[in-house]
Parts: sequence; structure tokens; C-alpha cells
Amino acid sequence: MPNARLAWITGASAGIGRALCTQLATAGWQVAASARGEARLRTLADSVSGLGAYPLDVTDAQACEWTVAAIEDAQGPIELAVFNAGDYRPMAAADFDAALFRQLAEVNYLGVVHGLAAVLPRMRARGRGEILIMASVAGYRGLPLAAPYGATKAALISLAESLRAELDGTGVAIRVVNPGFVRTALTAQNAFRMPALMEVDDAARAIVDAIGGRGFEITFPKRFTYALKLLRMLPYALYFPLIRRMTRQA
Ligand SMILES: NC(=O)c1ccc[n+]([C@@H]2O[C@H](COP(=O)([O-])OP(=O)(O)OC[C@H]3O[C@@H](n4cnc5c(N)ncnc54)[C@H](OP(=O)(O)O)[C@@H]3O)[C@@H](O)[C@H]2O)c1
Repeated sequence: MPNARLAWITGASAGIGRALCTQLATAGWQVAASARGEARLRTLADSVSGLGAYPLDVTDAQACEWTVAAIEDAQGPIELAVFNAGDYRPMAAADFDAALFRQLAEVNYLGVVHGLAAVLPRMRARGRGEILIMASVAGYRGLPLAAPYGATKAALISLAESLRAELDGTGVAIRVVNPGFVRTALTAQNAFRMPALMEVDDAARAIVDAIGGRGFEITFPKRFTYALKLLRMLPYALYFPLIRRMTRQA
């Protein structure tokens, strides 16, 4: 990869985003790293050469526009945007919390919309760019305890499919990333056993290795996510008893 290529990563202060930033910078990319946690971003920028800190709350549409303008003014055109910022909290139906739905929708779904609004017109004008949208296998089908989170990820998969169909042939590639379970602060909230749990560096490596590829979906670990794809194809009459049994065991 040539040295001058520039990537913008949101949710870069922790977890998958942080590991992704480090691996991309090591591979020779210039990296513009965004998240709300300014101190954590500065520490990252101090320890990784080629990485610049651009603090940002993705729920602020105007701030997304300003951040993209600041990055491109300082460092040139963004070639790769990874919309990775995300939030999660499990919610039982007995504790139904509309505020949590709003909170997760604003970060996970609208946060990506704001990032796209800022970067997509610039990429389209240049006829060049790659955009990775961090969704999840939790968006494949409704899962117990995951209504507020899963709905945002299903929305992202749908959004990415729509844009992919429209942008084909423009030079701008939209792709979706659907990981299984990855060990981060986000999944540390899960009280259940997580099958095929991956380490964060392995997850980041799977994404980095897929950059520049032609496929629409990047998913890992494959044995687990392909099993979930099969589950997605089941009729409801089979899906609900099976998912109840599987999640009760976990
Ligand atoms: N871990 C998994 O098993 C898994 C599986 C599938 C998909 N994912 C998705 O992968 C992405 C990263 O997850 P992770 O596990 O690495 O989570 P994480 O360790 O909790 O990191 C989340 C990152 O998002 C940032 N963030 C949160 N709210 C933000 C906001 N409003 N504006 C800007 N940045 C914000 C956080 O930084 P600040 O708090 O500093 O803002 C942090 O850098 C998420 O979209 C998640 O849904 C994760």
C-alpha cells in the first residue's frame, strides 16, 4: 500500500477501531482517528506514527462535516472511511426502555448517516473511495435481549445494500462489516457465553486484509457467521424455537 493513502476511522479510541488504526498505520496508511474520548485519542496519536487525532461525537452532523473538512484540508483526500463508532446495551423486554433505542439509533445508525453525508459527496466527486460500515451479525435477525442494538445493525445492512446498488460503477465502494463476537468493552457487558469469541487484533486483521476487495460483505469468524446465515434463512416456525433453545443454553 502506498504511504500517502489516508483512512478515517470513527470509534477509534477503543476496541476494534483502535486496533484497526494501529494496524493500518503499521501497514503504511495515514490514519485520521475520531471518537469522543480526546485524551485516549491523543495517547494513541502519541504512540502510533502516521496517526492524527480528530475528536468527534458522531451524533453531531455538523461536527462530522467540520471534521471531514479539517482532515482533508490538513491531510488530503480520504480514500478509506470506516464507520465503526458504536454503542450497545442489552435490554430485556421486561425493561423496555425507549430512551435506549434512541441513544443507540443516534450513535450506531444516524452516526453513520452523518459520516456518509460528510464524506460521500467528496468521494463521489473524485470518483474514488472505499467506505466500510460496521454493522454486525446481530443485524441478520432479531435476537433476544438485543432489540435496540440489533435494529440499528439491521438498518445499517439495509442502508449499505441500497447505496451499494446505486454506487456500483462510480468508483466508490460501500461495504458492510458483520463481525461475530469480539472481546471488547462492548461485549464485556454480555452475561452469556459468547460462541467463537475473537480477540480484537484478529478482528482488526480480518478487516485490514479485506480492504480493497470486491465483495460487499466482510464477515468473521466465518464458521460462526456462516452458521448464523443459515439461521437467517430458516422460516419463522423453525427460527423462533431454535433461537429460544440456543439462547437459553448460552
Ligand atoms: N465487539 C463485538 O463483538 C462487535 C461485534 C459486531 C459489531 N461490533 C461493532 O463494532 C464497532 C466497535 O465495537 P467495539 O466492540 O470495538 O466497541 P468499544 O470497544 O465499546 O468501542 C466503541 C468505540 O466507539 C466510540 N464511540 C461511541 N460513541 C461514540 C460517539 N457518539 N461518537 C464517536 N465515537 C463514539 C468509542 O469511543 P468514545 O467513547 O471515546 O467516543 C469507542 O472508540 C461497533 O459499531 C460495534 O457495534 C462489535
